[in-house]
Amino acid sequence: QKFNVAVLGATGLVGRQIIETLEDRKFPVGELFLLASSRSAGEEIQFRGESIEVLDVEGFDFSQAHIGLFSAGGNVSEKYAPIAADAGCVVIDNTSHFRNDFDVPLVIPEVNASSLADFRNRNIIANPNCSTIQMLVALKPIYDAYGIDRINVSTYQAVSGAGKEAVDELAKQTANLMNARPMDNAVFPKQIAFNVIPQIDTFEDNGYTREEMKMVNETQKILGDTSVVVNPTCVRVPVFFGHSEAINIETRMPVDLEHVKQLLNDAPGVELIDDLGDYPTAVSDASGNDTVYVGRLRADISHPHGLNMWVVSDNTRKGAATNSVQIAEELIANYL
Ligand code: A2P
Repeated sequence: QKFNVAVLGATGLVGRQIIETLEDRKFPVGELFLLASSRSAGEEIQFRGESIEVLDVEGFDFSQAHIGLFSAGGNVSEKYAPIAADAGCVVIDNTSHFRNDFDVPLVIPEVNASSLADFRNRNIIANPNCSTIQMLVALKPIYDAYGIDRINVSTYQAVSGAGKEAVDELAKQTANLMNARPMDNAVFPKQIAFNVIPQIDTFEDNGYTREEMKMVNETQKILGDTSVVVNPTCVRVPVFFGHSEAINIETRMPVDLEHVKQLLNDAPGVELIDDLGDYPTAVSDASGNDTVYVGRLRADISHPHGLNMWVVSDNTRKGAATNSVQIAEELIANYL
């Protein structure tokens, strides 16, 4: 059986990655519809050796598609997801727009695949934030075995998380600075080249950013456990692809480090690189593949139930495109 798939935001960074991932994972695509704004309608993108023309989403008849993979921004999803869902197209949405809606499943297949069962409520499924996905893929086996009371996390997030204009801004600023030319910033609030910026998304009244509060709320929703408290600081760094996270957790029960290593070695989607002196990094390990890498695993010397780890993954892949396509795979295997 084949499924007709619409990719909205097909010309964007994540959209292009979704198209590549559908091909790489041999998703049974019947017809592929590539959708974007009128700006890029008429462009051609390759899929399975064929050129497919990009269409303007405005006026597209979503009843032609079984599944819609949306990645064109929150306001675009707000407008088109209900239209697609009403036309019978199941939407897997990469934006934050629907994630907190109680009747929309928020899914990481390795963590809470069973929550997909509720997708018919709205015909919309939300893909979590990239930082939440890699953190929970790594923490789920530990949560299941020991319980987690508290998560303290600092992120080091790549510019690709902010889209193709953000990637261009880092490249341009770097070239300008290296050539003693003046540089300016438009996408990021401060210079990103050779700098780190402790702000992703806008600020909330409590002093945390929206990106940070996504990690708090999404973690509790995905684990189905509001007793897990999360204290994040999200930071943008001048890396093109791959988010890194320094995570400290307080477990409910004392942990056995060797057992945790075994859990992580057995966990789906996880690879532990933790020989003394070796650890994974975003660029040398994570960028370009779908794995969540864990390293620097060690007991917290300041807390009897504390555990530290370093987690890296490609934000455009497992953090976005791959997770969405995995949701689609679960959907067709079990529900469509
Ligand atoms: P377009 O190329 O037509 O602007 P990125 O996240 O890399 O910045 O990409 C954003 C994606 O979302 C692009 O494919 C972009 O298409 C698409 N997009 C942005 N705004 C709209 C809109 N109003 N309607 C449809 N697609 C949009």
